[in-house]
Amino acid sequence: MQKIAVLTSGGDAPGMNAAVRAVVRRGISYGMEVYGIYHGYEGLMQGQITLMDAGSVGDIIQRGGTILHSSRSEEFKTDAGQQKGIAELRRKGIEGLVVIGGDGSFRGAQKLSDKGFSTIGIPGTIDNDISGTEMTLGFDTAVNTVLEAIDKIRDTATSHERIFVVEVMGRHCGDIALWAGLSGGAESILIPEVNVEINDVTHRLLEGNKRGKKHSIIIVAEGVCPASEIAQRIKEEAGLDTRVTVLGHVQRGGSPSAFDRMLGSRLGAKAVDLLREGQSGKMVGIQRNRITEVDFADVFTIENDIDLDMYELSKTLSI
Ligand code: F6P
Repeated sequence: MQKIAVLTSGGDAPGMNAAVRAVVRRGISYGMEVYGIYHGYEGLMQGQITLMDAGSVGDIIQRGGTILHSSRSEEFKTDAGQQKGIAELRRKGIEGLVVIGGDGSFRGAQKLSDKGFSTIGIPGTIDNDISGTEMTLGFDTAVNTVLEAIDKIRDTATSHERIFVVEVMGRHCGDIALWAGLSGGAESILIPEVNVEINDVTHRLLEGNKRGKKHSIIIVAEGVCPASEIAQRIKEEAGLDTRVTVLGHVQRGGSPSAFDRMLGSRLGAKAVDLLREGQSGKMVGIQRNRITEVDFADVFTIENDIDLDMYELSKTLSI
């Protein structure tokens, strides 16, 4: 394989630039031409494809976001959109593609592979909601961003003896809430995977109050419900005054952690290696600190479980 391309798709994630850099430089080390596709699948269909050189990915390993920009594309979900994309790639003589993105992006990648275009996926999303890899690119940085916010909120929560409800990202997956909540000492963590009655939360708050605990931090993943709803219910059911913080897209930005730079570098290099071996329809991932490969079919069918032991531990430790 002589010509390959790379794109980033879906929600951006810290570490994507490290992965792009690794794809470009690993490819060049094999004597390949490596192309960058701008604006994800949208840009692919419009032929926004540029030849990269080693210098074009210099000074980006430490930067958040993605220098290739990203998008979410409805058109690429259609057969016509996918054919258009393949035609643009073939026009430039490109034979292999690396897609850095989340679950939705991989569905597009699998379609390309099914249509005979060699495609490998790199899991890039802050949500950590992809099966077949223990960590997704950007998750570690996002957890640390949330943790920094929790620590700051705790300062003012303690000073004013207040309850804070902090909403974090994660529509279907509570990993950001769970990891940041456990490491930030949150008093309650609400995640989409576990059904919790607000009564239980207020009960824990009142019990804590009796023991003299005057401040509390409740972390809620956005997939559960808006933080404002929890705050309202706590007010109604326990008469306790709360403050709400919605962290939002701040969680998607920032300089990637050492872990995410390492992960992006290792996954990017492995993706190129797989294309070079003639493989397709696979995601590269990390398991027990080894870089692995998983068929897209398994990525889509294996359940991405939350670590319930960790969840129980967070309850034990947050009394
Ligand atoms: O998939 C990553 C993610 O950040 C989710 O946590 C969040 O729900 C979503 O993207 C937000 O998407 P958008 O930036 O398109 O509003």
